[in-house]
Amino acid sequence: MNMHIHKFEKIWLIFGVATLLVFLSVVGVSAFYLGNQPPSCLATINPEKVDTTAPFDQPGLKKVKGKEWDYELVFVASAFQYNPGEVEVPLGAKVKVLATTKDVVHGFSVAGTNINMMLEPGYISEFTTTFDKTGEFLILCNEYCGAGHHMMTSKIKVVE
Ligand code: CUA
Repeated sequence: MNMHIHKFEKIWLIFGVATLLVFLSVVGVSAFYLGNQPPSCLATINPEKVDTTAPFDQPGLKKVKGKEWDYELVFVASAFQYNPGEVEVPLGAKVKVLATTKDVVHGFSVAGTNINMMLEPGYISEFTTTFDKTGEFLILCNEYCGAGHHMMTSKIKVVE
């Protein structure tokens, strides 16, 4: 009789330990995969070395070859400006926009479009889009970043 109880206790103990291990590995794995990265950010960057890290050492529009997009448009945000402060993009161009910040969290929203990103120090935010309408598109900071927040703008001019 005693032996039987002992056996069951052992089974439950093993079951308990196994459950705990499964739980811990699930928590560990998901913490590893999700981290605390914002979902739109795929790559990381040293925010103190933005000016010397490609492609952010050369902000602006660049034609690229052999990629799924025709141009790369690089923006560096800092309090309280974007570099470049204005840029021309040819009509119909498929453009990959890459952006990061040198200091605090900034926003990157393009007025009149659904483009709306958060730029966080240490991360590269990106999106790919085709500019198929001519005109001027204002870029606004929609994350409060300090005294000059409301003055922080840039402009994409889509030209034929
Ligand atoms: Cu930058 Cu608000």
